[in-house]
Amino acid sequence: MNAKQAAAFRAVGYVKDGMIIGLGTGTTAYWAIQYLGERIKQGLTVTTVATSEETARIARECGINVVALDSVEHIDIDIDGADEIDGAMNLIKGGGGALLREKIVAACSDEFIVIADNSKKVETLGKFPLPVEILPFGWRHTAAKLKILGCSASLREKDEKTFITDNGNYILDCRFGAIGNAADLESEINTIPGVVECGLFVKMAGRVILGYADGTVKELGRQG
Ligand code: A5P
Repeated sequence: MNAKQAAAFRAVGYVKDGMIIGLGTGTTAYWAIQYLGERIKQGLTVTTVATSEETARIARECGINVVALDSVEHIDIDIDGADEIDGAMNLIKGGGGALLREKIVAACSDEFIVIADNSKKVETLGKFPLPVEILPFGWRHTAAKLKILGCSASLREKDEKTFITDNGNYILDCRFGAIGNAADLESEINTIPGVVECGLFVKMAGRVILGYADGTVKELGRQG
C-alpha cells in the first residue's frame, strides 16, 4: 500500500453503515472510492455525493450509489484530497479543478476528512499555485483585479485548450508566494466580481490523515 492508498484506507475506516458520504476528487480520493466500493461489496450500505463528474463516474463504476447534493439533508463525512496542508490544517485545493463543488460539499459535511501523502504537509501555504475559479465573462478583468492582490495569474489550460470546470467556468492559477493569512486572502479574493470561489479551505478540515511511503499513517485533529 503506497502513501495515498494508506491515507485513503484509514479514512474509509471511519465510514459506518447508513452514512451519507462526500466523495472527493483527485488521485488520493480515487483510492478512497475504490476502498469504499470494496466495503459496499462486503455489505456496507451508504449514499454518496460526488464533488465532480469524474468522481461520480468512477464511483458508479465501483457500484457506489451517487445522488445529487440537493437530494440529501446533510453529509456525515466528506473524504477529499488536498494540494497543500499547513499546521493549522488550512488547505489549498483545486489542483484537479474541482474546488467549487469540493468546497460546497465540505461545507455541508459534519466531518471533513482530508487525505494526502505526507509531501502535501507544508509550513506555509503558497508554494502550490492557488486555483481560483472565475466566470468566463470578462475574465481578463477579473485576472487583473486578482493581480492587484499580489499574484501572477495564469489561465489554466488542458490539451492546449482553456480548461473548463464542471460548472462551465475557468481556473486561474495564482502564484502569491507564501500566504501569511489564508482567511484574509480568501475574503479578499472572493469579493472580486467574477470570482466564483478560491481554493483556500480555511478551518474546514476536521481531521487530516497523512500517508507515508511505508504504508503507515499519521492523523492530525483540530484542536478547539
Ligand atoms: C481537486 O480539484 C483537488 O482539490 C484535489 O483534491 C487535490 O488536487 C489533491 O489531488 P491529488 O489527491 O490528486 O493530489
